Amino acid sequence: MSPQELRAEVARIPWWHHINLGNGIVTPGRDHEKSVPKLDRLALPDLTGKTVLDVGAWDGFFSFEAERRGASRVLATDYFCWDHGGWGTKAGFELARRALDSKVEDMDIDVMDISKEALGGSFDVVFFLGVLYHLRHPLLALERMAEVTDELLIVETHADMLFTKRPAIAFYETTELNGDETNWCGPNLAALEGMLRAAGFKRVELVWNRPFYLRAARALRQRLKTGAPLLSSLQQGRMTVHAWK
Ligand SMILES: C[S@@+](CC[C@H](N)C(=O)[O-])C[C@H]1O[C@@H](n2cnc3c(N)ncnc32)[C@H](O)[C@@H]1O
Repeated sequence: MSPQELRAEVARIPWWHHINLGNGIVTPGRDHEKSVPKLDRLALPDLTGKTVLDVGAWDGFFSFEAERRGASRVLATDYFCWDHGGWGTKAGFELARRALDSKVEDMDIDVMDISKEALGGSFDVVFFLGVLYHLRHPLLALERMAEVTDELLIVETHADMLFTKRPAIAFYETTELNGDETNWCGPNLAALEGMLRAAGFKRVELVWNRPFYLRAARALRQRLKTGAPLLSSLQQGRMTVHAWK
């Protein structure tokens, strides 16, 4: 495919990720968290020779990055945004895979259906990025992740209840979080750590959380845009944890 043809194909797709496809073509993702800065917040270990599972991969930015970093095998899975009623399609993933001449494998599967049997085995490293808070049953989902993780699970998630020291999870019945009815829960760090240990991980380490000044800036924006109470929004953030088997 020529760069002109690729550019035209890229323009036809509603992208989530910013993926560099070469020849100056970067997909115009609408992820407000931005793919490349988000990558820095994952504190990825050396992936050389590792098998990697990317759950909720969507356009596949993190899957392709794992492959680029030397993973021996990468499986990207998704369901909701791969043509099952979500905010996107699988077209971006498929085009990027072709353009990058990538060997990343794919499987359409709901998070809650993931098991060793369904995937045909387990993986050294599992990415669970931006998915947990979209699920109605977060602890059950983390148990599913534990079953297919051999070494390390990386969880990146929306967080809430950050002024509460005890383990706590905010529950969003409808569109309370960002006007999005697919957002169901926001754990604080103690709850996420506890759930991960209960799911079978031995050691859980916080590797990144959104600094307070950025949470304050977001809370102000929310206040101006939707009238959301400052104290509630200030308790919300993002965090990344590494959970070791
Ligand atoms: C906010 S996007 C995050 C995409 C990507 N992991 C990232 O961090 O940029 C949430 C992803 O989770 C997927 N997802 C949500 N619920 C799901 C479910 N029940 N089963 C499978 N995937 C799901 C969506 O399709 C979407 O790709």
